Amino acid sequence: MAKQGPDDTLSAALLAWYGLHARDLPWRAKPGISPDPYRVWLSEIMLQQTTVQAVKAYFHKFVALWPNVEALAAAPLDDILKAWAGLGYYARARNLHACARAVVLTYGGNFPDSEAGLRALPGIGAYTAGAIAAIAYGRPHAAVDANVERVIARLYAIETPLPQAKPEIHMRTQALVPKLRPGDFAQALMDLGATVCTPKAPHCMICPWTEHCLARRHGLAQSLPRRQPKKIVPTRRGTAFWIERADGAILLRRRPESGLLGGMMEIPSGPWSETPEPRPERHAPLRARWTRLEGEVTHTFTHFHLELVIQKTTAGENFKPGPNCRWVPRAALASEALPTVMKKIVTLVLTPLLPAQSAGRRGQKGG
Ligand code: ADE
Repeated sequence: MAKQGPDDTLSAALLAWYGLHARDLPWRAKPGISPDPYRVWLSEIMLQQTTVQAVKAYFHKFVALWPNVEALAAAPLDDILKAWAGLGYYARARNLHACARAVVLTYGGNFPDSEAGLRALPGIGAYTAGAIAAIAYGRPHAAVDANVERVIARLYAIETPLPQAKPEIHMRTQALVPKLRPGDFAQALMDLGATVCTPKAPHCMICPWTEHCLARRHGLAQSLPRRQPKKIVPTRRGTAFWIERADGAILLRRRPESGLLGGMMEIPSGPWSETPEPRPERHAPLRARWTRLEGEVTHTFTHFHLELVIQKTTAGENFKPGPNCRWVPRAALASEALPTVMKKIVTLVLTPLLPAQSAGRRGQKGG
């Protein structure tokens, strides 16, 4: 029998805790039932940069619409983008579709069962490959997300700031992964980070690792992990052009495939730039008399803040939109797969102003 080392003690304590406190999540297989790799993969892609709470409803919707990878691969991309709307980062939805197609076309509908095979698929990076390999196939891989980073940085009192500490944290996590039940171990760590080893005011009294936790011993739990101070992000400004037809339809334009929000539909806009654009209207899809709407839309991307002014016009009968443009009836706008910043524009334009608001209306931040 294998010798019990300190790492076995830690993983055994965590697995025992998980047996009692695992969260009941829709993508998790019930005890005794083999996990379905399709559901594991789908949930892990959705959970990239989105909270468990937000993902639940989307997960139910997707498995109801597309119960297996063949169904998802056969679905039109636009249907997937529509169902995805609100989860953000549309490149993930495109990769989801590309990945489903690759699994069907290259692997006959079976996801590869190794971390390396999974990593070669679209949209699957190190974290997701580790999570799927462990959860769906019982491979002894670590799955280190931000929650797990926090738990491990505390357990070993790692004072190196993130992101520099990532390799050490990964190595430490991998050393803890048990040969038996690595999938449960991965999920137990996620649950521990989400419910006990929380960023603020961790619940050390009920933690299965409290005896072993060096950060707790040194009174450091709340202050770990340390982080490199955030870079200050610049502000870019631009103008969006709200163009209506006489029947109320609105002009949308497809963005170029490469670059930010690649291939997504947008309210046509000019360049987003840190330096002021003296005549933004020259970037509009048509020459017209423009009315500037009150308020602005603001949105924060990973590496810049954006402030958009909205100019509005009604297109004349002679206006012929370009090939990448499409008229969308007003009633159908809500079901368009628009990126969040574009949804903010729609909200700003279509939400009637109350008199008290009209003095200083600004767009909401974030999302
Ligand atoms: N975050 C990422 N993957 C997760 C999972 N499988 N369970 C809970 N939280 C997660």
